[in-house]
Amino acid sequence: MTDTLNPATNAAAASAIDRTAAEVVADLTLEEKASLTSGASFWTTKPVERVGLPAIMLTDGPHGVRKQREGSDHLGIGDSVPATCFPPAVALGSSFDPELLERVGAALGEESQAERVGVLLGPGINIKRSPLCGRNFEYLSEDPLVSGVLGSALVRGLQSQGVGASLKHFAANNQEADRMRVSADIDERPLREIYLRGFQRVVEDEQPWTVMCSYNRLNGVYTSEDPWLLTKVLRDEWGFDGLVVSDWGAVNERVTGLAAGLDLEMPSSEGRTDAELVAAVRSGVLDERLLDTAARRNVELVQKAVRGARSSQVERVETYDADAHHALAREVAAASIVLLKNDDAVLPLAAGATGEGTAVAVIGELARTPRYQGAGSSQINPTRLDNALDEIRAHAGAGAEVPFAAGYADDGAISEELTAEAVAAASAADTVLLFLGVPAALESEGFDRDDIELPAAQLALADAVIAANPRTVVVLANGGVVRLSGLADRVPAIVEGWLLGQAGGGAIADVLYGVVNPSGRLAETIPVRLADSPAYLDFPGEHSHVRYGEGLFVGYRWYDARELEVSYPFGHGLSYTAFAYSDASVSADDSGLTVRVTVTNTGDRNGAEVVQVYTSLPGSRVVRAPRELKGFAKVALAAGVSREIVVHVRREDLAYWDTRVDRWVVEGGAYAVEVGASSRDIRATASVEVEGDAVRVPLTMDSSMGEVFAHPVASQLIMQAFAAGGDSATSALIADPSLFKMMESFPVGRLAGFPGGPFGREQVEQLLAAANAQG
Ligand code: BGC
Repeated sequence: MTDTLNPATNAAAASAIDRTAAEVVADLTLEEKASLTSGASFWTTKPVERVGLPAIMLTDGPHGVRKQREGSDHLGIGDSVPATCFPPAVALGSSFDPELLERVGAALGEESQAERVGVLLGPGINIKRSPLCGRNFEYLSEDPLVSGVLGSALVRGLQSQGVGASLKHFAANNQEADRMRVSADIDERPLREIYLRGFQRVVEDEQPWTVMCSYNRLNGVYTSEDPWLLTKVLRDEWGFDGLVVSDWGAVNERVTGLAAGLDLEMPSSEGRTDAELVAAVRSGVLDERLLDTAARRNVELVQKAVRGARSSQVERVETYDADAHHALAREVAAASIVLLKNDDAVLPLAAGATGEGTAVAVIGELARTPRYQGAGSSQINPTRLDNALDEIRAHAGAGAEVPFAAGYADDGAISEELTAEAVAAASAADTVLLFLGVPAALESEGFDRDDIELPAAQLALADAVIAANPRTVVVLANGGVVRLSGLADRVPAIVEGWLLGQAGGGAIADVLYGVVNPSGRLAETIPVRLADSPAYLDFPGEHSHVRYGEGLFVGYRWYDARELEVSYPFGHGLSYTAFAYSDASVSADDSGLTVRVTVTNTGDRNGAEVVQVYTSLPGSRVVRAPRELKGFAKVALAAGVSREIVVHVRREDLAYWDTRVDRWVVEGGAYAVEVGASSRDIRATASVEVEGDAVRVPLTMDSSMGEVFAHPVASQLIMQAFAAGGDSATSALIADPSLFKMMESFPVGRLAGFPGGPFGREQVEQLLAAANAQG
């Protein structure tokens, strides 16, 4: 391949890079244009050397640069060059920290530049619909605001380095089962309000260079060939001006896809589908202007990548600081750890002291052999790998003995011998650090989990260890949530360590010893049991269809609406200090809500709090969740310090998707605004009047009596008509509330036809027309 991201090596490149993309396309033959819209190989686009247009490389993504070595396997899953393995999205989501994620994005950009990668395939921001989704470790949250805000931060950071993002998987790729064919059948409101909302935010705020369409179908249509999704929504409504790339192998019918808005097929089809495009243009099936548009977007992408490489500083282009990135990976991992439980301040551990009531024993193979990322296309070959055991020993201090017992084997198997060793170590220690988690083989791209259980062998080990020493701190490693009911109430502390990337071992030790005060918050609910979860009855569907029967009620929206107990709620996470909230207030203006609250660190340690703002609209005319996250802020506060925190809620985030008029609508009314430390730890509530958007739904003969009477003009006209006509039966109907309630749903056209009624059909039609005309 022509290495082109380094312009110095390709002087001819200037000719195609410095002209407008449209000019370049105008010089191309039909065959060249078609060739530009599919890959040359697994990871590269095709150059057109005749006009000096280079190729660029696209590579996974998302939490590291997975650039395959030359000559590696053709399936694209083998060996790759070393790169920093940052924490996967499951951890990043729990950080609730856009600034930190922007730094991660920038670091990924530097590494991409060093490896001559033009587009890094990420972030993945699909909603965690079910805890079973095998790829939940690659996604940020069950909530669209968290996904959108944090996804934006990653894109912003990455693209600041002149490297393109690929926002994926667009859209509704919420399971792995049958992912290449399954149709996600979703009603319009949940589709817009839950599944597309995060994508909309990232596209509108950050203009990712590319969006990757998913494998699945959406409401029956492959996303790779859905003009509604790829053109109407993405471009016409959201203003996307980048390129749509297929997920690898997602193209079903190339010609249909291109016409729908798919600009680049990846990986290479070895020319087969390019020939289909050429034939389709020649036979008049495909308008050549559509091909021109797709070719232009491909040229623009290459131009951006080459310009991005030029604008980066030379040092960055050649190399990056692997130690600094490892340190950043550790900082992010530590900020993502969620302290779920910490009774009697068992944590943090005191460093240095041994044999005086603070000696710890470490149990569990995962402490020595960490699980730090999930399997599949995102698997990074790390530059280094820390493990928690070594790091705990380093924190415990010189001379401190920290005994270790594996407890279970690498493959998860347990034996009497391993258990006996673990029990002996637990009995002799003051505090046990018990590392449990989901084995790698159970969590991967390509398939879903069958349950959310920790392995039975590990639970049996936990029984034995807790019996030997109840002062047991559980440290978890898992890409999707695990059931903790039954275990949580038998241990004093639980540290949710997710999958934390290559520096996760150090981050765990930092949190256990209080070097870092934990500040992660759950970006997904931990249910009491799988059967409580929203999609339980509709996952993963059947016969290639999955019905999103829970509608809008995804994640905490569901648990709250059903008033279900959960093990740990969305937004939850403890600190070694405490925060008090006071003086909450909220005001509204055209841009949205401004929420102010004073937060005080009332403890004796520095720490960070995630202030969460939820809204609801009591008495709303549409179905709504009891509370929805509409804003958040992560704030670092030194011990004893108070600060006023201001969270802005965008007006558009208050909107629901109105299916009558096919657009976002802010309903007017008194919104309840809750400020909390989690979705179930609300510290202050305020109410604010919000002016609604005007929605004019024309009245027809099908409109109900209720709708007619709710219409400001129609109701007046009708009352006037009654007064003039003097029909006593109908006047009585209107005067009697219970009678009216009974007739409220009656279409006005049907009532008009009733024998003896006050109005004829013609009169009603005139009345409705007059009402519609006057607004
Ligand atoms: C995954 C994408 C990934 C692509 C390239 C696909 O199987 O779904 O997330 O970017 O492969 O490896």
